[in-house]
Amino acid sequence: HDAVEVISVKRDRGELSDSQIDWVIDAYTRGEVADEQMSALAMAILLNGMVPREIARWTAAMIASGERMDFSSLSRPTADKHSTGGVGDKITLPLAPLVAACGVAVPQLSGRGLGHTGGTLDKLESIPGWRAALSNEEMFAQLESVGAVICAAGDGLAPADKKLYALRDVTGTVEAIPLIASSIMSKKIAEGTGALVLDVKVGTGAFMKDVDRARELAETMVGLGKDAGVHTVALLTDMSTPLGLTAGNAIEVAESVEVLAGGGPADVVELTLALAREMLAGAGMTDVDPADKLADGSAMDAWKDMVRAQGGDPEAELPVAKETHVVNAPDSGTLTRLDAMAVGLAAWRLGAGRARKEDPVQAGAGVVWHARPGDTVTEGQPLFTLLTDEPERFDRALASLEGGFDIGGEHTPQDLVIDRIS
Ligand code: URA
Repeated sequence: HDAVEVISVKRDRGELSDSQIDWVIDAYTRGEVADEQMSALAMAILLNGMVPREIARWTAAMIASGERMDFSSLSRPTADKHSTGGVGDKITLPLAPLVAACGVAVPQLSGRGLGHTGGTLDKLESIPGWRAALSNEEMFAQLESVGAVICAAGDGLAPADKKLYALRDVTGTVEAIPLIASSIMSKKIAEGTGALVLDVKVGTGAFMKDVDRARELAETMVGLGKDAGVHTVALLTDMSTPLGLTAGNAIEVAESVEVLAGGGPADVVELTLALAREMLAGAGMTDVDPADKLADGSAMDAWKDMVRAQGGDPEAELPVAKETHVVNAPDSGTLTRLDAMAVGLAAWRLGAGRARKEDPVQAGAGVVWHARPGDTVTEGQPLFTLLTDEPERFDRALASLEGGFDIGGEHTPQDLVIDRIS
């Protein structure tokens, strides 16, 4: 094979053969297919799509580009969760220790944020001492002792995807369902989890703005997981409103700890429990109610053990931003809309997220909102608190919140869990 042959097939709306797919992924990983050739192919895939056989083979080839982990010798079953990314989406933080407290091991390989959605590792790195990089041996040992690990994926896992995702990011080819589905699932299958729950976000703050595209992505990923022998279920969940009351890093850790202490915002608790129940069911553990483990403190104990095992101090003070700016409600009435994208952009511009992969994030930066849609607010009361170490960032953050909320008018409650696909 050669690259121009493979690109031409997809350009002309043909189907790639198994051997063409195997060759192009392997040759790209080795550097024989150049970035400009792979970006032409990615664009042809974005425009012309792939049939299920091609997506399955593409995923398998990306898995085969690296190592495959195997947790089958652990003393407990494994389950993991993946979110397609949302604003204020700190759910992994309370979820992993909660599921571990129920007796299922959670090998969660996570990423850093890019753009307006935050990254789980960025949030956890605000805990003094905590480290994201673990060897496979350390990961295995922690799964046996604590039952939950949240760490960075090593270089050996689906290296083809690492290279391809970075290329897609700068060539306008992220938003192709075959490429998103194969990217996510190659990593989750290579990670070796027995059960997987996908939280596919829908709404203004999500990758997928409409429910039909989100459902198509979810169905594609569930199909890939099942074919690979992973018990896979997807929930479509609302991301038109941000989750909880905080978007940032340290402030999201603090909110997660409230949930683990038996409190926290109702929507964060609801989604944490819904995903925990799916993970437990997928692992064959149906006789435990995760709500009990939040109430009796055992999820909190697992959190502290998990943080300590990775060098963090769960009792340490979290970093606080140097500067704050409060936005007051301009009117009285019901808050009828709070836009996830507006809040996500504001948090990002305050320094909670990064514009380029190499950029650092500020641990203390972010947005706190003091009301959720459906709540009544009074003119002049604090509506948002903006947090950053660099006050020159306030203006642009304020601009992104403009038009991002409505006070007054009809409030239509939106279900958090929109659909379940299995
Ligand atoms: N997350 C991934 O890991 N890959 C994608 O392609 C999109 C989101």
